[in-house]
Amino acid sequence: MHFFRLLGTAIIFAGISHSSPTRRFNAFNSSTISVADFASNALKVAKSNVPSTGECTPDKLIVRKEWGALSAEQRIDYTNAVLCLQGKKAKTPSDLVPGAKSRFDDFISTHINHTFTSHYTASFLLWHRWFIWEYEKALRDECGYKGYQPYWDWAKTAETGLAVSPLFDGSATSLSGNGEYIPSNGTHIDINGIDLPDGTGGGCVKTGPFKNYTVNMGPVALSLRSSSENGTSIGSTATQWNWNPRCFKRDLTDYSVQRFANETSVRRLIAESKNMEQFEMTMQGYPGSGELGVHGGGHYALGGDPGRDFFVSPGDPAFYLHHAQVDRTWWIWQQQAPSTRCGGPTAIWGTRTFLNEPPSANATYDDAMDLDWAGAHYGEVRKLGDVMSTTEGGFCYVYE
Ligand SMILES: *[C@@H]1O[C@H](CO)[C@@H](O)[C@H](O)[C@H]1NC(C)=O
Ligand SMILES: *[C@@H]1O[C@H](CO)[C@@H](O)[C@H](O)[C@H]1NC(C)=O
Ligand SMILES: *[C@@H]1O[C@H](CO)[C@@H](O)[C@H](O)[C@H]1NC(C)=O
Ligand SMILES: *[C@@H]1O[C@H](CO)[C@@H](O)[C@H](O)[C@H]1NC(C)=O
Ligand SMILES: *[C@@H]1O[C@H](CO)[C@@H](O)[C@H](O)[C@H]1NC(C)=O
Ligand SMILES: *[C@@H]1O[C@H](CO)[C@@H](O)[C@H](O)[C@H]1NC(C)=O
Ligand SMILES: *[C@@H]1O[C@H](CO)[C@@H](O)[C@H](O)[C@H]1NC(C)=O
Repeated sequence: MHFFRLLGTAIIFAGISHSSPTRRFNAFNSSTISVADFASNALKVAKSNVPSTGECTPDKLIVRKEWGALSAEQRIDYTNAVLCLQGKKAKTPSDLVPGAKSRFDDFISTHINHTFTSHYTASFLLWHRWFIWEYEKALRDECGYKGYQPYWDWAKTAETGLAVSPLFDGSATSLSGNGEYIPSNGTHIDINGIDLPDGTGGGCVKTGPFKNYTVNMGPVALSLRSSSENGTSIGSTATQWNWNPRCFKRDLTDYSVQRFANETSVRRLIAESKNMEQFEMTMQGYPGSGELGVHGGGHYALGGDPGRDFFVSPGDPAFYLHHAQVDRTWWIWQQQAPSTRCGGPTAIWGTRTFLNEPPSANATYDDAMDLDWAGAHYGEVRKLGDVMSTTEGGFCYVYE
């Protein structure tokens, strides 16, 4: 079924259950705790739970940082490693996916293949946690990157505006800037009934490290504002594996982070989500609620092609910083009550199909996930239960 028709399906979410609130934060008024305070508490809790022996010990713990906290040299090391992935040959067989030309494209191809099984499903946060981790690993093991996966602090960019942020200012130490300005013909984009104003770019990205980057795959389901140029192009799953080389476009849209991923959005998500259902549905936006959630807020803020393509979105290098922040937000929420949010019957919620369409069973910790050719080893399978903690099951990282 088509994605937009799926999203249009009226879904009634009944019976919000209540898990016991955590002792740690009972003493606080959550509306007065900042995200930074939640984050520093999460770091303390996570560190205190790392065992002194075994696979992940305090001395092995790696720290993922915010993009702006990296030095200029560290940022350039990161984008150089991404450029390296974009220049390496794909592992995905070209007879299966002619559009996957580079190692970077392997990740796009995998995401396209898993779109319906890793969004609005129980595995949404889990699959993406592993996906980002394999990307970080590829940058390090295959492209000599010495650092770790940075994240995008949405709320910061909501305050400053995207185009002047260290992420998107177009400098040599950014992830490239906005697309060239293309005037709109006045038609706004409608995302599930949400009217998004035009961004400030729309055309090809001509600045920063990715100004020469050619997008190979998609579009599949791209929502771009209409423009005097080819603004709107809806592809289809029938052509999802095709090679379609074109320039990399952005249409930075401050409204999307300001309205859906500001400090209050993040704080309320962390402080007020009582259980996994509320957390993951608020993060992705309850369909029909008029909310995109912080997940949609970040994605749609990028605008452009492929950033705004639900399937092909990992084709914008900012995707990985966005999803690191998604993972970080989940991690902060988990650390408020690790015993019930990293394991046990209430730490996962949802079924195996996109918005449970077609209806499927509740997912379990034994359900398997895979990453096609994106991971280091083709065919590697992980169970949902393996990726619940960032300091177990082969993972050993925290966020600062
Ligand atoms: C928490 O703080 C907010 C803002 O200061 C205030 O409006 C609210 O009444 C407080 N809630 C509780 C339960 O104390
Ligand atoms: C882009 O390509 C041009 C022409 O090949 C080259 O001079 C330039 O260094 C490249 N820029 C980047 C950021 O890769
Ligand atoms: C703007 O362009 C889109 C796509 O080409 C078209 O569907 C729409 O009717 C146009 N709107 C106006 C006001 O011209
Ligand atoms: C629109 O796209 C087509 C096919 O890629 C191209 O031939 C045409 O020149 C484009 N039009 C504009 C105005 O960019
Ligand atoms: C900030 O986020 C909150 C919660 O998502 C939202 O209700 C509010 O309207 C947003 N603020 C602005 C200025 O859009
Ligand atoms: C699936 O999970 C929901 C809530 O998480 C629960 O109400 C329902 O009974 C479960 N279904 C089955 C078949 O176990
Ligand atoms: C997509 O996933 C299916 C099922 O896991 C797998 O058989 C197939 O090889 C994958 N296709 C690509 C292009 O990765």
